[in-house]
Amino acid sequence: MKHLLGIRHLSPQEIEEFYLLADRFYEVLQQPTRKVAALTGTTVGLLFFESSTRTRLSFELAAKRLGADVLNFSATGSSLAKGETLLDTALNILAMGVDALVIRDEGVGTPHFLARKVSVPIINAGDGTNEHPTQALLDTYTLRRHFGTLQGVRLLIVGDLFHSRVALSHLHIASKVGVSLSLCAPPSLVPASWYGLGLPIYHRLDQAVKQADALLVLRMQKERQKQPSLASWQEYVRYYQVRPQHLRPGQVLLHPGPINWGVELHPTLQAYEHKLILQQVTHGVAIRMAVLYALLRGR
Ligand code: NCD
Repeated sequence: MKHLLGIRHLSPQEIEEFYLLADRFYEVLQQPTRKVAALTGTTVGLLFFESSTRTRLSFELAAKRLGADVLNFSATGSSLAKGETLLDTALNILAMGVDALVIRDEGVGTPHFLARKVSVPIINAGDGTNEHPTQALLDTYTLRRHFGTLQGVRLLIVGDLFHSRVALSHLHIASKVGVSLSLCAPPSLVPASWYGLGLPIYHRLDQAVKQADALLVLRMQKERQKQPSLASWQEYVRYYQVRPQHLRPGQVLLHPGPINWGVELHPTLQAYEHKLILQQVTHGVAIRMAVLYALLRGR
């Protein structure tokens, strides 16, 4: 594998290899030194043209834990404002001797475009409403560690499916790893083509949650909604906010972050016992170490 552009392009065996590598790196992260020298001498460039907290920081930490150097590009304060193209920016960064690029951009297909133009591995850290492969890997890795297997685990994704790259990556990963996926959203937030996929799609949250072992709740992606997708915000909260009474014992709760408490999740769920949201973040470092290692180890 040269690049990680989307879950769409991965085989079940490649996904399994990421999980097994993440298991090894997770153990390393528990030890006092928390470092492996596997990528000493390499440099990872982080190109984030869209805001990010978890994804960017965990890629940075993952690279450093592997012994790599990190070059951090930030769109604000860069020459993009002076009219430089994204491709020129990337080529200039590569000319400094960078061995891999992690890229997030609002444009669908930007990582795929770069992958055709440059010779180093490209890792997609989120391209518009398309894919966010490392998020789907770390979410399923979290479920795998929790349940001991992914076979038959019933995952319900609730929220803004229409604008979510996380949801699309889960659509691709579920059948490859044996997760039984169902979806819940208002009709206006479900892409029309998804009705033909053979997945259960619910419009009533109380019915949807009954069938699930785990809930992955998504944020309303306001910044990507070109026109209003909902009749009213209050109505969304009333019918689709996940509240303590929706959950039954043992059901686990995941969220990719950032959370808008009081919108998609009721604030009292901050104290929910079976919340795996911070474990997702911890596992994200191990998964991103696995991805960087898999793509760069030969270099
Ligand atoms: C997600 C993203 O950026 O797509 N966040 C993340 O990477 N943890 C989801 C979101 O923005 O709501």
